Amino acid sequence: MDGSDIGIIGMGVMGQSFALNIESRGFTVSVYNRTESRTREFVEKRAKGKAVVPTYSLRDFVYSLKVPRKVLLMVKAGEAVDEFLRMLKELLEKNDIIIDGGNSYFKDTERRSDWMRREGIFYLGTGISGGEYGALHGPCIMPGGDKEAYQQVEEIFLKACAYTKDGPCCSYLGPGSAGHFVKMVHNGIEYALMEIIAESYHLMRDGLLMDIEDIQDTFEEWNKSELNSYLVEITGKILEKRDKVTEKPLVDLILDKAGQKGTGLWTSKVSLDLGVPVPTINGAVNARIISGFKEDRAKLSDKLRGPLIHNGREDKDNFISLLRRCCYICMLLSYAQGMHLLKVASEKFSYNLNLSEVARIWKGGCIIRARVLDTIKNIYVKEQNLPNLIFSDELTGILNEQISALRHILIKAVTWGIPVPAMSACLNYYDSYRAKILPANLIQAQRDYFGAHKYERVDKKGFFHTEWQKIG
Ligand code: 6PG
Repeated sequence: MDGSDIGIIGMGVMGQSFALNIESRGFTVSVYNRTESRTREFVEKRAKGKAVVPTYSLRDFVYSLKVPRKVLLMVKAGEAVDEFLRMLKELLEKNDIIIDGGNSYFKDTERRSDWMRREGIFYLGTGISGGEYGALHGPCIMPGGDKEAYQQVEEIFLKACAYTKDGPCCSYLGPGSAGHFVKMVHNGIEYALMEIIAESYHLMRDGLLMDIEDIQDTFEEWNKSELNSYLVEITGKILEKRDKVTEKPLVDLILDKAGQKGTGLWTSKVSLDLGVPVPTINGAVNARIISGFKEDRAKLSDKLRGPLIHNGREDKDNFISLLRRCCYICMLLSYAQGMHLLKVASEKFSYNLNLSEVARIWKGGCIIRARVLDTIKNIYVKEQNLPNLIFSDELTGILNEQISALRHILIKAVTWGIPVPAMSACLNYYDSYRAKILPANLIQAQRDYFGAHKYERVDKKGFFHTEWQKIG
């Protein structure tokens, strides 16, 4: 045997599942994990009888691979990646390829690509989405980095990824950190969609006072509509689940404090740096943060008054239908914000992203896969250079027709005192974008008043300062 087709470092759930997936497509896979017992357990159980080669030193791992070696890192993003790179660069040879399949911060990927290039090693920062199930059965793969190197791993990626009727959910996205940037924005959109769904659930539960079975049925129905998506689908399934001991709906027993590993926050931070408005993603990140203040919330829930008007007296069918339309609008606006960020980043970092390809590969395998991505893909196929999706006739048509549903739902949420940070961010985004005149004239006047920052005028060109006050 002349060596394994690929090697995977990191035998966590994702690494193991992806190794089995790749092996099932006819490739030989070497595996390595820092803690030996993990590798042993993997080859003795899940990988028993398969073309998986266990290795117990990095040197054996490297030497077990076919040249040029393809090393896929499936380790925790951060310091662990740098540590492995330091060790691997001593063992790998010129033209070998390292693929980072974790959720690495794109600036780290940029630095690591430069570093590896200096060592003569190719580097592919690659986003992989789909969780454990996706890794095993077909994830969405978002590769970026050296194109030459990508061509060498393409066969493996194309065999292991998910497929839709539009082809494989894997496409070379661009140089440097393009793959990890796209994955980061994917996660930002993921945060937004999850929050929109959670807000809908909150409105159904505490606004309409629906029972859990009814809410579950609603999500199941929604999944047959324009909202069809992985996240809506799993929400229905989650609501169905009962705790084995108490037999209560499991979701009612889960503490309402949301965790986060950082990709949503990075999307928000980068959008601020690049000056791209993504308020729904920001709203979703903030919602997770505020959920963490559980004890404060508990204290304040007894102290701060809510509205007196009570809920539950609503035409349920009508409300649910409006809520479905509201979610649709909010989902579209979340994708629009993410895509806008990708467009600006693509120009700024010379990724040369093809946004219709991004939308196409997101249609399957990944967490944000949704029917609406078909519409989005088609819009970009026709108009690759749209500054923002909301300029497309197709989207303006949908928005004009459906936006009243969002307004209606927000009025109810405000009346009932139910927080809807992501949904309200969507409406503010929409109303700000369509406002010919915003009160920024007053902001400019204030800036000039206290800081002599100057302002532009509507009636003549140039920058002006006014002596607003007598200073000394
Ligand atoms: C995916 C997911 C995956 C993971 C993230 C989000 O595309 O498969 O996005 O990468 O769920 O780590 O995690 P947090 O919610 O903890 O930020």
